[in-house]
Amino acid sequence: MSDQPKTGEAYAGCAPLRLGQKAPEFTARSTQGVVRLSDFRGRWLILFSHPADFTPVCTSEFVAIAKAAKAFEALDCALMALSVDSLFSHLAWIRAIRDRFDVVIDFPIIEDPTLEIGRAYGMVGPDDADASSVRATYFLDPEGVMRATTCYPASVGRSIDEMLRMVAALQRVHGGDALAPEGWHPGSDLLRVPAQTVESVLAAKDASGWFYDPIPDGATR
Ligand code: BEZ
Repeated sequence: MSDQPKTGEAYAGCAPLRLGQKAPEFTARSTQGVVRLSDFRGRWLILFSHPADFTPVCTSEFVAIAKAAKAFEALDCALMALSVDSLFSHLAWIRAIRDRFDVVIDFPIIEDPTLEIGRAYGMVGPDDADASSVRATYFLDPEGVMRATTCYPASVGRSIDEMLRMVAALQRVHGGDALAPEGWHPGSDLLRVPAQTVESVLAAKDASGWFYDPIPDGATR
């Protein structure tokens, strides 16, 4: 089977930055002034790229994120967006969004005209001439380590609910004392980290109890 893209498709770079890797430092101009990645140490951060300002799907994402600002705040999770568009373009776009949707985008939107940040993070491949192909999302822990990433095509918007769920789940399992099962939300059962010893296997109440053991959120052992 050919691994060439179909007509009209293009290869899109995404995320050679690996889970557990320290996210590369950068300094950039943004809609909130000059920002450095290290300014966000001590907080969870979602760094996300969007293909272009003044486009329909990106606009829908930014409106939804702005409307969810309180939910991100409740998780103490900062947000930072990025595209190749200029700072003038970002500013004009957030004005258009405010006028049309009555929401203010008050997290920084970075300009990355040379693709320097996009390349460092693998949002674009080393030979790509533009960054309009992907929606990359990086979930960084308070030490600036990448804990999760997603990569969506330009044609499909991300789910803000899933971003919030991801941050909550990453925060909950961060100490390593529990695992978050499929669809986990705060308050629902977690899963015990299997001990992987003969003793724990033989002591379990049945043949699956040693590897599948739900525990209430709040309990850690
Ligand atoms: C959009 O956000 O709607 C979009 C961006 C780039 C290419 C296609 C669609």
